[in-house]
Order: sequence, then structure tokens, then C-alpha cells
Amino acid sequence: MSVPTSSPANKSDQQLGFTHRYIPSPDRSSDIAGLTLLLLHGTGGNEDDLLPLGRELDPNARLLSPRGKILEGGRIPRFFRRLAEGVFDIEDLEFRTHELAGFVEKASRIYEFDPRKVIAVGYSNGANIAASMLLLNPQTLSGAILFRAMVPLVPENLPDLSDKHIFMSSGLRDPIATRQEAETLSGLLKRARAIVDLQWQNSGHELTRDDIHAAKQWLVLNKKQL
Ligand code: MLT
Repeated sequence: MSVPTSSPANKSDQQLGFTHRYIPSPDRSSDIAGLTLLLLHGTGGNEDDLLPLGRELDPNARLLSPRGKILEGGRIPRFFRRLAEGVFDIEDLEFRTHELAGFVEKASRIYEFDPRKVIAVGYSNGANIAASMLLLNPQTLSGAILFRAMVPLVPENLPDLSDKHIFMSSGLRDPIATRQEAETLSGLLKRARAIVDLQWQNSGHELTRDDIHAAKQWLVLNKKQL
């Protein structure tokens, strides 16, 4: 599916501090009330990767899609540094999480969307920074769709996430975001009182049609509360 984007040399990249795409809602009448999907790509991805997924999940949502600023090995975009596969640089993760929350807040003013109606949609590294944002900057998101997420960090004090709706879709055979990781993250979010729906796919780390189908259904069912 092709999605029209804002101008290629986005004039707001510099203002907002992230290379990004912003796609307004095609439905102008729902422009003020609707959701904004914050699309967060996986390691090695970019701001274009998840645009078709975002549009498929919600045909009327605004889409905001930044590119991670860390360049692993000088060329692989990510949202935060890691020391090894699955071993995160927590100091950098905290810094990048706050930085990304600041980007969303500024973007809501520039693009005039409701900052109380932002849902993160993250895959792998993008899901991990989305989970970190729920734990460190909960006011930034009203909910999240997390594909193949791990425990990003455990904060000293758990936030109150009782108004957050979170969908997790994890792979039963995922060697990176393992079953135990997904269950631990789900438990952590639930201890913070979030409403978590964890669903399992018969897959590995890759995203499948079943993930997208399940996420779409969840979004339709939960939209009014997001
Ligand atoms: C991460 O680094 O966030 C996770 O290991 C997932 C990945 O990006 O490979």
C-alpha cells in the first residue's frame, strides 16, 4: 500500500530534532478528535517502514514516524544504544526515551494533534523504546501496540498506568524477544496497573499477517477508550 508522505525534505525535521514523517488523517472531519499513531521502527529500519502498517491499522489516524537517531556500526538506525544483542545501555535508553517524548510533545503543537490521544506502534527496538516510554514518560502515550517487545528497563518506582491500554503480540519461537521476556514485560506493565492484552503468534521475531490482524481487531475494540 502506498501512503502519501509530507515533503521529502521535511521542513520540520530540524525544528523537531528527528528525521520523521507526518501524515495527516485523510478524513479531515475527524482531524481534531482522532488518534495519532506514533510509529517506531525496528533496528535497521527508518521512518518509512511502518507507514503502510499504520495506515492499515487505522485508515483515519494521523501517522507520526521518527527515525531512531543511534547509528549502530555507523549505519544501522536504532532508537537507543545497546551493548550487545538484548543488553541495553540503560543511561542512553533513559535519555533517548525522554528525548522522544519531547519530540512527540513538540510535534503535537506543530502538527496540531491531540497529545492525549497518541498510541505507540512499535516493532522490536521500536517496541522496546515504546515500553520504556510507558514506564518513564507515561503521559506521552494513551496506549501502545507492541510487536516483539522485551523488558527495556525496570524503573525504581513503577508509574500508575491504570488508564493505559496495551496490546502485545509476541512470537512463541522468538529467539530475541523470548517468551519469558514478553511475559515479564506484561507482568511489569500489569503491576503498574495497565490493561494488557498479550497475544501469542506461532512465529519467530518477524512480523506476520496474524500480528497485524490481531492488532487491528484490538484497536477496533479499544478505540473508544484510547
Ligand atoms: C533491541 O535491541 O531493542 C532488541 O534486541 C531488539 C532488536 O532490535 O534486535
